[in-house]
Amino acid sequence: MQKKNLFLLFLIAIIFKLPVQSQNSENSAFIQDNVKFVAEQYGLQTNIIEESGKVLNPKTIINGKMKYVSPEEWTSGFFPGSMWYLYELTGNKKWKELGIKYTEALDSVKYLTSHHDVGFMIGSSYGNAIRLTGNEEYKDVIIQAAKSLSTRYKPVAGIIQSWNVDRGWQAVRGWECPVIIDNMMNLELLFNATRFSGDSSFYKIAVSHADKTIEHQFRPDFTTWHVIDYSLIDGSARSKQTAQGFANHSVWARGQSWGIYGFVVCYRETGNKRYLEQAEKAFDAVAKHINMPEDGIPYWDYDAPNIPHALRDASSAAIMAAALYELAAIENKDYYKQWADNIMVSLASPAYRAAIGENGNFLLKHSVGSIPHGSEVDVPLNYADYYFLEALKRKKDLENEK
Ligand code: GLY
Repeated sequence: MQKKNLFLLFLIAIIFKLPVQSQNSENSAFIQDNVKFVAEQYGLQTNIIEESGKVLNPKTIINGKMKYVSPEEWTSGFFPGSMWYLYELTGNKKWKELGIKYTEALDSVKYLTSHHDVGFMIGSSYGNAIRLTGNEEYKDVIIQAAKSLSTRYKPVAGIIQSWNVDRGWQAVRGWECPVIIDNMMNLELLFNATRFSGDSSFYKIAVSHADKTIEHQFRPDFTTWHVIDYSLIDGSARSKQTAQGFANHSVWARGQSWGIYGFVVCYRETGNKRYLEQAEKAFDAVAKHINMPEDGIPYWDYDAPNIPHALRDASSAAIMAAALYELAAIENKDYYKQWADNIMVSLASPAYRAAIGENGNFLLKHSVGSIPHGSEVDVPLNYADYYFLEALKRKKDLENEK
């Protein structure tokens, strides 16, 4: 080859390689900066807890006051779960020790049968604990929790009942057997329980619930209803409503994210392409939604009144980013990774990421619990932080694979 051609080839290689190299170093700087931040911020959070001499479980800040939750509260697994992601992200054994301590404080949760959230609670705490320690005793916790969750399975409708209807605000809605889209997040516990016990009944319940969710909880455009009330007489859908969204017809942002995430998990656990397609279509429905903001952080409801002045919900963005990184890994599609990266850049910007020592030492600002209930509005939430950490870990893995 002539010298001139060799020089040309060299030039082309440099031109094409430089942007890739600079993208790689941008990504690793992003990960380093955020790992440093999360370890520092949660270091402050856990110092306060450790100095108290108690095992406290922070959920949010209300009117400047820290809200700690009991093991029975639906979010109790997320803070212990965050310890496990901090351990994975930093390699520092201190987080593993705290992970064990805060996780084991939830032991009694495995007997909880009064609501469906036992899947969230045990999955994010013990689920990660077993993944990272291999401690065989934790398997029994997963199996017992799955047994508790299975008591809520209603064969006539083929679903797991989410909420009881004999107390609280749920008692005045006229429901018989309400199922919320969030329930998709509890299925991972059942798949794990079958793996650990060899008992396929958990797996079958999970598959039935996922199939019924496809049948009833999705609209033709693949957005989701928040609540489906099933008949316990014949299993039919009695009504389709909302509880935490703006209106029955609207798209509650976190519910949609739970749906996307839940179906990615179902695909991972079953290999059934139908679930993968459901996750992708549910994501496409919001990716192309006229009210999806450019920074990828959804309004609390895609049909909220007052858009563009409506509140955003960082939690729904973090859940979606974590799901999209898994989709990117499964599908090997840059499309999902680019979306997730865009969300993560927004969440890690000063608009959403707290300053060190502020925001009650939580990581993210601006999440919404339930606007219709006037509860936890525009606050930090432990589950927004948990899924941000999970997304960061998944991003790190994807970058390393490259
Ligand atoms: N039920 C869980 C949530 O508020 O998203």
